Amino acid sequence: MCGIVGYAGEVQAAPVLLSGLEKLEYRGYDSAGMAIYDGEAIRVAKAKGRLQVLRELTSDGALIPGVIGIGHTRWATHGAPSDINSHPQVSDSGKFAVVHNGIIENYLQLKEKLMKKGVAFVSETDTEVVAQLLEYYYKGDIVDAVIQVLRRVEGSYALGVLCEDAPDQIVAVRKDSPLIVGLGNGENFIASDVPAILSRTRDIYRLNDNEIVILKKNSVQVLNMDKEPVEKEVSHIDWDVSAAEKGGYEHFMAKEIMEQPKAVRDTVSPRLRGGRVVFDEISLTPEQIRAFRKIYIVACGSAYHVGVVAKYVLEQTTRIPVEVDVASEFRYRQPILGADTLVLVISQSGETADTLAALREAKRLGAYTLSIVNVVGSTIANESDDVIYTWAGPEIAVATTKAYSTQLAVVYLLTLYLADLLGTLTPQQYAGYIEELTALPEKMEAILNNRAIIQYLASKFFNVRDVFFIGRNLDYAMSLEGSLKLKEISYIHSDAYAAGELKHGTISLVEDGTLVVALATQKRLFDKMMSNVREVKTRGAVVLGVTTSSQRQIEKEADYVFYIPDCCPMMLPSLSVIPLQLFAYYVSSMKGCDIDKPRNLAKSVTVE
Ligand code: M6R
Repeated sequence: MCGIVGYAGEVQAAPVLLSGLEKLEYRGYDSAGMAIYDGEAIRVAKAKGRLQVLRELTSDGALIPGVIGIGHTRWATHGAPSDINSHPQVSDSGKFAVVHNGIIENYLQLKEKLMKKGVAFVSETDTEVVAQLLEYYYKGDIVDAVIQVLRRVEGSYALGVLCEDAPDQIVAVRKDSPLIVGLGNGENFIASDVPAILSRTRDIYRLNDNEIVILKKNSVQVLNMDKEPVEKEVSHIDWDVSAAEKGGYEHFMAKEIMEQPKAVRDTVSPRLRGGRVVFDEISLTPEQIRAFRKIYIVACGSAYHVGVVAKYVLEQTTRIPVEVDVASEFRYRQPILGADTLVLVISQSGETADTLAALREAKRLGAYTLSIVNVVGSTIANESDDVIYTWAGPEIAVATTKAYSTQLAVVYLLTLYLADLLGTLTPQQYAGYIEELTALPEKMEAILNNRAIIQYLASKFFNVRDVFFIGRNLDYAMSLEGSLKLKEISYIHSDAYAAGELKHGTISLVEDGTLVVALATQKRLFDKMMSNVREVKTRGAVVLGVTTSSQRQIEKEADYVFYIPDCCPMMLPSLSVIPLQLFAYYVSSMKGCDIDKPRNLAKSVTVE
């Protein structure tokens, strides 16, 4: 939920930290700060607000000289956004400065103990406890002090520590929060994510839990909690820097929406060989697959919405019962599962705290875990029994689009893979689905080429107060996603309903001029949907219908219509999501909202 960067090298640290933090702002953007050793002491600059405020405060870093430092961009959890609560947090004497991503769950007990011993706290943060504890346990060896602190704190953390007594090094450690080490020439880095360091190096170490790093300009040492050296493998990042840049678009979200056909092609093509789905990367055997009696899907937010689609698709196609759960609920509801259960975990970042906890719970209960993840080498990917990567490339906008679409593509691939092994499809049906899957990117392109229609529709509705998204079956799953997309970036209140459920209460909210987006792509449910459209129109709603090109009858019922190309019912979500994303994007843009960094949100939710 926060972004951290650290630099040890030969050039001025502040500009390097600022440009790294800029790439991490998607992780949190309510305040930012840096601590730099200037040759005599650690100097701290921090400020509430976007990174730009810190830039102005430090004259783009010029006012805070030095060649080693740590930086932070914050998404507040403990203590409101303020100058004082911003990171770095420093210890009483100023000897230690700390940046932190995660949550120290037992910080209150630790804080009370330290206060009884006379330590004075200035902030409301959990992070300050780490800085004060470091000073408390410090007896001349920083790593020893770090180990003492780690033995006492509970929760999740990626920490970067600068100490005045060893001003040529940064000590860093992680547990359940991401942290990488960047290996440069005469300079080394720590960072929460790759884009922060990509302009300076492509060689990285991915850290495991409780590995302690001692980072200097010419060396990187990794130790375990017993201070024994750990051998790390260097990973080389081969994506293009431009993949994490806006590339001429006004917003990352626009770029990522437009990249979807390519992302889906990149995800699907390597897994299709000779007309069959092939997953070289998974070790699940046909015997194991035949033994599964149940599938659970666990995820958060939009990834959960992919799970809702997957439930319909997997059940209909494989006839294995599927349950889909929001991860934060799953982990505390004592789910009934065991060795005959496949738990499918979906996550773009691979670091979402609740999803990770749900994965661990599923493993503890003996289920087989398979994850669908975008970030290579992330914790969820590493800890799952098998992982299928989505090849969406880096997704920067907080609102997910291309990661969502590639997750859907993997769901189709996986469905066909399982159905093939279970023999639940005829060879003709199987071949037909493969053909439809291969044709998806082109159909997505056709919709994107029609985006001006959605822009026009957005101009008609961008100032509405409430929006209801309704649909049945897979269209209900899409309503959930359309509604989330709109509300998270435009701040318009919206809700999603199974169309048949509306009349059991919510229809009382429909009044003259209420916008209802009616998804009616599923042919076998089209007439039922038209009845629901009539119900809301009778109460004064304005209806924007989304359906396929062959269902023109909708024009008799809806006020406005957007058509998507026809395809097999199961894969229509890949097409219907695009107008919903575009609608949210244009509405948000017309309202002047901060599209890529909506208020109160962060891309990667690494706290519970
Ligand atoms: O990284 P994850 O896929 O695990 O993230 C899950 C959700 O936080 C994420 O999908 C969120 O709902 C997006 N902001 C939606 O656009």
